[in-house]
Amino acid sequence: MQGVTNRGLREVFGSTVRPDVLFTEFVRVRPGSATPVSNADFTEATTAVAGIPLVVQVIGSADEGVVQATRDLVSRGVEHINVNMGCPWGRMTSVLAGGGMFRAPETVEPLLRELRQIVPGSLSVKTRSGIDDERQIFDVMSAFEAASIDFLVVHSRTVQQKYTGTANHDLTREIVKRSAIPVIANGDVTTVAQAKQVMEQTGATGLMLGRGAIADPWLFDRIRGLAPDKPDGIARRRELARHLSLLLASYETIFYGDAQILAKLKSVVALIKDPDQRRWCKALKKQQHIVSLRRLLEASMTEDP
Ligand SMILES: Cc1cc2nc3c(=O)[nH]c(=O)nc-3n(C[C@H](O)[C@H](O)[C@H](O)COP(=O)(O)O)c2cc1C
Repeated sequence: MQGVTNRGLREVFGSTVRPDVLFTEFVRVRPGSATPVSNADFTEATTAVAGIPLVVQVIGSADEGVVQATRDLVSRGVEHINVNMGCPWGRMTSVLAGGGMFRAPETVEPLLRELRQIVPGSLSVKTRSGIDDERQIFDVMSAFEAASIDFLVVHSRTVQQKYTGTANHDLTREIVKRSAIPVIANGDVTTVAQAKQVMEQTGATGLMLGRGAIADPWLFDRIRGLAPDKPDGIARRRELARHLSLLLASYETIFYGDAQILAKLKSVVALIKDPDQRRWCKALKKQQHIVSLRRLLEASMTEDP
């Protein structure tokens, strides 16, 4: 997730709940550049958590240097590549990148075939269901299969929908049924009940957790049956305070200055939608200094019921 799943956050998740796989933020290919991947992106792409596969996501249109960028990433040791075919933001879709690739479906198969020759580990695609019609996904499925990608992550919303409405997991089920490639379901899984429901409803091979896991890192362990399903408000606040303290410490090692560090932490807090924590989150977002934010988090970690 762009702006969120930086190496600092991945390190904290990797040292606590250890997701089975971690993904980078997207690496934006720099069109027409002799160095299509920035140094900052190389650092992100090559900083994995020991023992957890890191999938590096690239975004760019087929003619923009995606192949060269992938070569450069692989030459630095990157093993797993995911192609973003879902980003709904205009800056991407106007150049046939991200979700915009649906407007040039004929470019998908040749691009993936080329990448298949280069990528030593898994090659995958993360896609939405289409631009403005959720049936468009079925026009590109054969390209995924012909290029022998290893898995497909489906967020069953159209590009046009952005984040409105809900993911259509009936459509995910149909994609699973019609796909020869393993499908990972993504979209709107924020509770154990929803995780079970989506797995049962779709028959998917696995789940990708986005906003739900950023807001509740223990969601991984709740789904695995290793953490309580629904902790009470104070227990949950203690968990979150501990997690955010770890994140703060991690961000202090990779970002510079109070303003940047606070902004990054607050963007995580903004994804916490739990109504019981609304006032607490508001108080966190008001903090102007790292010292006062840390004090508030420490007090919350030891809060008594
Ligand atoms: C802030 C933000 C940044 C995101 N960045 C990316 C990204 O870089 N690559 C990507 O494939 N999806 C990205 N997404 C989409 C999510 O990966 C995911 O597909 C979507 O949020 C639906 O899943 P969820 O309901 O579990 O969050 C982003 C979503 C948000 C909210």
